[in-house]
Amino acid sequence: MNSSNQRSERASNRNLTVDKSTVVLGIETSCDETAAALVMGGNDVLSSVVASQLEVHARFGGVVPEIASRAHLEAITPVVDQALTKSGLNFDRVDAVAATVGPGLIGALLVGVSAAKAMALVLDVPFVGVNHLEAHLYAAMLDDPNVEFPMLVLLVSGGHTMLVEVREPGKYQIVGQTRDDAAGEAFDKVARFLDLGYPGGPAIDKLAKTGDAKAIDFPRAMMHDGLDVSFSGLKTAVINHVRKNPNAETKNIVASFQSAVVDVLVAKTIKAAENLGAKTVALGGGVAANSLLRGEISKACAQKDFHVVLPSLAMCTDNAAMIASAGWHRLALTGDTALDAGAYPNLGLTVASA
Ligand code: KG4
Ligand code: ZN
Repeated sequence: MNSSNQRSERASNRNLTVDKSTVVLGIETSCDETAAALVMGGNDVLSSVVASQLEVHARFGGVVPEIASRAHLEAITPVVDQALTKSGLNFDRVDAVAATVGPGLIGALLVGVSAAKAMALVLDVPFVGVNHLEAHLYAAMLDDPNVEFPMLVLLVSGGHTMLVEVREPGKYQIVGQTRDDAAGEAFDKVARFLDLGYPGGPAIDKLAKTGDAKAIDFPRAMMHDGLDVSFSGLKTAVINHVRKNPNAETKNIVASFQSAVVDVLVAKTIKAAENLGAKTVALGGGVAANSLLRGEISKACAQKDFHVVLPSLAMCTDNAAMIASAGWHRLALTGDTALDAGAYPNLGLTVASA
């Protein structure tokens, strides 16, 4: 085949018809999870493999960017191989390759983006750059494909806390966000201060079950003030309380702290859902795995008659099924991404939706 034929064939492959049989290979390397997944038709998860670097970073009390990039490099090929094997498909059946292009750690992002572009080139299929935050929005739909719109999503992760109105796939706007720390960041910082290890969210969630959530009346900042939230003052209040009361029981401190975070998140989510006239309320991001948040949001939604979607724990935390799903929607809505596109560490939600 001469080079002009090759080019025209590639162009026709890029103009792929996106439908229920379209298989997207998703790749996620934005932080400390190397993940690959095969998803058909936007929501049929054929396989989802996640290799976590938690143990590598735990002794440093947080993610070390250079170590993360090297670990992604080592894991990316075996993780993609495992995802293919588990799906029962081979590379020939892959119609497009999607990868997280931001936000995230630049070195980590580049590993996934470069691998995805290389695979797309070799397979002669479209490459799709995916916004990690947009992908968290789609995670809710992966577990419950029949969600009704408009949907209000509370997206709470280690780096982000935002309330997002989703009018239909691809059409959304942020209506509230944190003024300072993300909710997960607050969990991680409080846990670190109390020597509970990293990541702090799961450790606090577990210990809080044994404590008294009413023991300490921590502040609920900005409770009656718009849809934004703020957790930095709460973190300081925890630190001040421990310094003044060195004998306070850790289980009561974390139960009271968690209860303050959840009270604010639930109140703001319900307020935003009422403003929107939402049919569905969904959670996304790592903090959506929190057991108190899941319980309280369910109760509040039941009272207000909102259908609530709580993604499985595997779909709350970082994974590539949500990347493949977002990639499928992006392909259908706006087509593929040029191979000279880069990685964007500070990518915001509005950039990808514009
Ligand atoms: O979405 P994610 O996996 O990664 C980011 O994109 O940030 O979220 C990680 C965050 C961490 O801050 C972690 O402490 C928090 O999610 N997290 C939790 C729980 N599980 C994970 N926070 C509260 N309760 C949990 N059970
Ligand atoms: Zn995430």
